[in-house]
Amino acid sequence: MAESANSRRDFLRVSVLGFGAATLAPTLSASEASTQKVLFGGYAKASVGSLKELQAKGELDFFYPDANSLCKAVFVDGEAKAFSVICTHKGCPTVYDQGTAVFTCGCHFTKYDAKKNGQMIIGHATGGLPQVRLEIEGDALYATGVDGLIFGRIANTIG
Ligand code: FES
Repeated sequence: MAESANSRRDFLRVSVLGFGAATLAPTLSASEASTQKVLFGGYAKASVGSLKELQAKGELDFFYPDANSLCKAVFVDGEAKAFSVICTHKGCPTVYDQGTAVFTCGCHFTKYDAKKNGQMIIGHATGGLPQVRLEIEGDALYATGVDGLIFGRIANTIG
């Protein structure tokens, strides 16, 4: 009986120590935390590329808000815009056509209009493509957030 009580006590001691270590492990020091800038909604400000390059090529691929989310910046009607390329119907990747400024999903042929901020123009989806908010500083393009939920997520910042 005494052995059982000791085992239970040992188990609790190890559990408390383990929980405490796990809780403290990801904590950032004050200097690390002050160098990371978190924007509204938990988004980070991330580089997309060069505005001049986007103007010359018409489109630039990038990942945002994390490496699991492919996005595309497009230059349409004299303006830089960016969208998640993942179709909001069932999550297939869309393909962008610069001539029409339309994203088309090859799975069930939903089309989204980049000129109208990713609005769905025909197909099975019930909403537009999530639009990435962009900031321009000189020639540098930055992503600063996403309007609309990326397919398959319960929150955009949880990849
Ligand atoms: S997954 Fe894109 S239209 Fe169905």
